[in-house]
Amino acid sequence: SPKLEYLLTETRGRVAVVTLHRPKALNALCNGLFVELNQVLREFDDNKDIGAIVITGSERAFAAGADIKEMKDRGFIENYAEDFLGHWTQITKIRKPTIAAVNGFALGGGCELAMMCDIIYAGDKAVFGQPEIKLGTIPGAGGTQRLVRAIGKSKAMEMCLTGSVNLTAEEAERAGLVSRVYPADQVVDEAIKTAEKIGNLSLPIVQMVKDAINQSFEVPLSGGLTFERRLFHSTFASKDQKEGMAAFAEKRKANFTHN
Ligand code: CAA
Repeated sequence: SPKLEYLLTETRGRVAVVTLHRPKALNALCNGLFVELNQVLREFDDNKDIGAIVITGSERAFAAGADIKEMKDRGFIENYAEDFLGHWTQITKIRKPTIAAVNGFALGGGCELAMMCDIIYAGDKAVFGQPEIKLGTIPGAGGTQRLVRAIGKSKAMEMCLTGSVNLTAEEAERAGLVSRVYPADQVVDEAIKTAEKIGNLSLPIVQMVKDAINQSFEVPLSGGLTFERRLFHSTFASKDQKEGMAAFAEKRKANFTHN
């Protein structure tokens, strides 16, 4: 891909690591950064040698939100006509598992970006918040929707209504926003370890799990359970189900071929 201005990327085995790299602005999510992020994620999603993706920032900031200076003079009509920030949701269309490894500030769009990932790991100094109300606006990329589903109404209301009640890493873990907290200098490595674990499993079956869990946010329980059971049935058409169950019966390690 052409030279990236706002991101660093690397691969480690079947894991892709994407690092937000706009240090002068605490990784504020300007349009150019998000265009690059979407492009890079799409490329890793299409790359057969990649099984999972880690998204991280710096130790100081995962991301301090949408770029306030870039958006401050925008008008309603252009926002509406261009569907301003609409392209941010492309991340939720990535079919491989994504893990956010969050250090420092995850504010506004930064918190929303983390919540668009499948798993969030936090460094012990991470801070999650939705400060938009202090700017005279509201969250625009899931802060009023995904946050409620993650931590419940009262905490989400408190955060979004005050803009100044933030969650520490430990609070975020207790509330269920984050699955694990690690020392700041270990969180990326731990995210990569988990991504490696996932990446060595059968990719199509991993994608089915992701599809099924995401379906739980969209449909009533009965429909979600049917969706799950049909996908479960369909795993039996894969080589990897035959291999996984044969390996168990033969007391050996499964060798998945992503088929
Ligand atoms: N947009 C643009 N620039 C930003 C930024 C943002 N969201 N956050 C930080 N920066 C810039 C600062 O302007 C500053 O630039 P200069 O050096 O050129 O002045 C640089 O990054 C360093 O920031 P600070 O000097 O402010 O660092 P600090 O340690 O004193 O404070 C902070 C850190 C508390 C995170 C503070 O930067 C801050 O409050 N940032 C804004 C947080 C925010 O309101 N986020 C929500 C944005 S709106 C949104 O995201 C909408 C949505 O839902 C999609």
